[in-house]
Amino acid sequence: MTTPADYTEKIPNNVGLAEDRRLQRALESWQPNFLSWWESMGPALPARDVYLRTAINVGRDGWAQFGHVAMRDYRWGIFLAERAADRRIAFGQHKGEPAWQQVPGEYRSDLRRLIVIQGDTEPASVEQQRNLGATAPSLYDLRNLFQVNVEEGRHLWAMVYLLHAFFGRDGRDEAEDLLRRTSGSQDSPRILGAFNEETPDWLSFFMFTYFTDRDGKYQLGTLKESAFDPLSRTCEFMLKEEAHHMFVGTTGIDRVVERTAQLMVEHDTDDAGPHGAIPLNVIQKYLNFHYSVSLDLFGSETSTNAGNYFTAGLKGRWSEERRGDDHKLTDDAMFVDALVDAGNGQHSIGQAEVPALTGLNTDLRRRYIADCQSGVNRWNKILEDAGLPQRLKLPHIGFNRKVGAFAGIEASPDGELLSAGEWAERQAAWLPTQVDKTHVMSLMQPVYERGKIAAWIAPPRQGINGKPFSYQYVHLG
Ligand SMILES: [Fe+2]
Ligand SMILES: [Fe+2]
Repeated sequence: MTTPADYTEKIPNNVGLAEDRRLQRALESWQPNFLSWWESMGPALPARDVYLRTAINVGRDGWAQFGHVAMRDYRWGIFLAERAADRRIAFGQHKGEPAWQQVPGEYRSDLRRLIVIQGDTEPASVEQQRNLGATAPSLYDLRNLFQVNVEEGRHLWAMVYLLHAFFGRDGRDEAEDLLRRTSGSQDSPRILGAFNEETPDWLSFFMFTYFTDRDGKYQLGTLKESAFDPLSRTCEFMLKEEAHHMFVGTTGIDRVVERTAQLMVEHDTDDAGPHGAIPLNVIQKYLNFHYSVSLDLFGSETSTNAGNYFTAGLKGRWSEERRGDDHKLTDDAMFVDALVDAGNGQHSIGQAEVPALTGLNTDLRRRYIADCQSGVNRWNKILEDAGLPQRLKLPHIGFNRKVGAFAGIEASPDGELLSAGEWAERQAAWLPTQVDKTHVMSLMQPVYERGKIAAWIAPPRQGINGKPFSYQYVHLG
């Protein structure tokens, strides 16, 4: 059973922190470092208060409390989903054994590594998004940005709790390092590539929350299966909050596409750029970029590490319990995307058969790709409803990859293999150029007046928590 969250404590939680003085002191000493990181690396725009959702418990009523809050007073808490009685390990060599409440010695460093990699992405995205407040298209959007930011901060707390509670001295050092690395830094960058990219404008922000937060959904989904029960329960609760981040991305791109389509029809043109919108081909280029860097986050197409984590029970598959196999995969094979020999010294993009255990990154990436396609379908429906023939699409899996089987080659969005020269010549048609970025940036003028919205984006269909779009979601300082 979980204990109810206690708000008289400095750190709201449902993990019984009050009974563990040592852990409490460790977290209380980390907290000022977190707050000074938030002051220097968190949202740059001063806001008096923001209409935020705060988790005060994990139950149906507790996890989404709305009210105006000063961000520095946001109650970053530690919440684990309720503990299932007699939870059993669902996969790997320990399948059927009771889930672990402590970290087994032999898996200590691998588990710590998995938690650190997940933890590192949370503050990274806050850093990437820190200047976006200065160009928010509406108070509604500004509020959503801040909501995402405080929840990524809470996700950092969630991972730091695990490090402090279960990994001793090493865990405390890792928790410090999570605040030391910085997105985009030369000396100590964030661990994963996509989390060192810039998020300088709101189109990038919506693409990031659609494609990169969605990677987070799939990573958390595999960690939710973990035999290490505290990690599983932490990720289960984080997934609930993550859904809102992806909502911001999905509906954000909806609204950009809607506005662009409107102006294309109104002015009977393919290029809505001169009419104050983001041209459809620029939206496609941003999509190409964010999708391809997010594909890299899943790692190599084949990976013995991924297989080892699975066999050990550290990280499962997406919806592990619903899979119809033996959940051990020791005798299974699968096809993964690969560069294959096309004879006469040439390569082509095809499929290779590998042991199922080494193909697990590909398995997860495929679930992700299918999910991404659903967004593209809805944006294309918006174009179709506007009477336009143009369509958006996901680029080929080999396009613009820096990790895995296709890191060493160049491919067009249609999957055509290109020489380095052809790539250099043609990539401006597929990835945002400096001119595209400058145009997008030029549209990013802040609109802070209630009920008003920037000209390059359509208003949302609904407000937050039943409030109208014109609600005063943010009081600026
Ligand atoms: Fe997160
Ligand atoms: Fe997120």
